[in-house]
Amino acid sequence: MNSSAPSAASVALLQSLVERIDVGIFAVDRAGSVALWNRFMAVHSGKSSANMLGQNLFAMFPELPRPWLEKKLESVFVLGNNAFTLWELRPYLFRFPHNRPLTGGLDAMRQNVTFLPLRTSGGEVTLVCGTIFDYTDTAMAQLGLHDAIAALNQEKDAQRQLIAKLETAQNQLLQSEKMASIGQLAAGIAHEINNPVGFVNSNLQTLKKYCEQMLKLIAAYQPAEARIDDPEILAEITAIKRALDLDFLQEDLPDLIKESEDGLFRIKKIVEDLKDFSHVDEADWQHADLNAGLDSTLNVVWNEVKYKATVDKNYGQLPAVECLAAQLNQVFMNLIVNAVQSLDESRGMGTITLSTGHQDDMVWVEVKDTGQGMSEDVQKRIFEPFFTTKPVGKGTGLGMSVSYNIVQKHHGRIELASVIGEGTRFRIWLPVKQGEPAAQ
Ligand SMILES: Nc1ncnc2c1ncn2[C@@H]1O[C@H](COP(=O)(O)OP(=O)(O)OP(=O)(O)O)[C@@H](O)[C@H]1O
Ligand SMILES: [Mg+2]
Repeated sequence: MNSSAPSAASVALLQSLVERIDVGIFAVDRAGSVALWNRFMAVHSGKSSANMLGQNLFAMFPELPRPWLEKKLESVFVLGNNAFTLWELRPYLFRFPHNRPLTGGLDAMRQNVTFLPLRTSGGEVTLVCGTIFDYTDTAMAQLGLHDAIAALNQEKDAQRQLIAKLETAQNQLLQSEKMASIGQLAAGIAHEINNPVGFVNSNLQTLKKYCEQMLKLIAAYQPAEARIDDPEILAEITAIKRALDLDFLQEDLPDLIKESEDGLFRIKKIVEDLKDFSHVDEADWQHADLNAGLDSTLNVVWNEVKYKATVDKNYGQLPAVECLAAQLNQVFMNLIVNAVQSLDESRGMGTITLSTGHQDDMVWVEVKDTGQGMSEDVQKRIFEPFFTTKPVGKGTGLGMSVSYNIVQKHHGRIELASVIGEGTRFRIWLPVKQGEPAAQ
């Protein structure tokens, strides 16, 4: 025993402190009998110290986690060290109702508990004192913080998705604006070329007539040659005829004019196709012949096609389809260009087959190639904006996503069949009329 035993006054002070402190304090002996039960414990458990002292703790609180607590107490008795439990790991030891409004799903007071060995003067641990600290406020604040962080994260995710959607929409808009301005440019050029082609054509017709007349005149002069007596004039005429190679000239002149006519006819056709393709005069819904649309689109991209593929056409009879024709032509163009780009030049000329058909109130347009085909993975992703397997500068990966949107706008659908090494077939189904239930 210490030489200076605590005075009665200080013991009383300590006792009153233990009673009044806002911390739960209790003590048990090795058999689990309660030796100390302060006011905090009494108030929160509803069991007074008079009722508790000398009683077995586990008998009085059957809901306690007995095996765990016994082990914990035992370790303090045997080792003589402090032990702890934190509310984050074990929310509470005693199930005490807490006196704050029940929020955030907290069902009981959160407790940090410390177990302290109490020794006799001989050093033997005869009691273990448990102190219970109320951590409910901290727990509630932390729960609130978790909720706020979760809400923030959710909002962040939503924003991220929105930004991605906006980016996609903006890029598709850019692409379709680009296509629209290409259409306008084409139409502008077509218009400008139209005038000079018109007068060259008209002049050519006149020229053709004049040539015919001149040749007629020369033919008429021919027999008169025999009657020319002046040998000087005759010699001059013969020299000129030889120098000009008149026979050849007479033969070649009509051919030249014919070829020029053909050339002009082709220029006129291209101009018409450009105008058709861009449909600048008809930006709205209209009834269009899709076979003609397919043809004019093919002519526009013919330069890219002709050295790489032969084109087979297999057109069915189609009714006029209610559509945005310029936009559908964009779809056809994307499909044809993709088909050409899929062809492996080292394998010689490929084949692109364009087919159309009609079934009930739907029409279909098909573009089939003998190109490299697509793996399953690629097939799943082709409609994603910016998905491309082509080298930088060759593909932006927007063609199919724009096409998909245009077909959607028409309440149609796109079918796809592809085999690696054999080729790909895209078939676009479109309702003949918009707004019919079957079309939806
Ligand atoms: N007929 C086809 N054969 C093989 N692969 C194709 C075919 N059509 C599309 N693909 C695949 O789908 C991808 C996406 O096509 P999409 O037309 O959207 O973009 P792109 O052709 O790469 O670029 P962009 O059309 O913008 O110039 C292509 O990169 C290609 O891998
Ligand atoms: Mg493409």
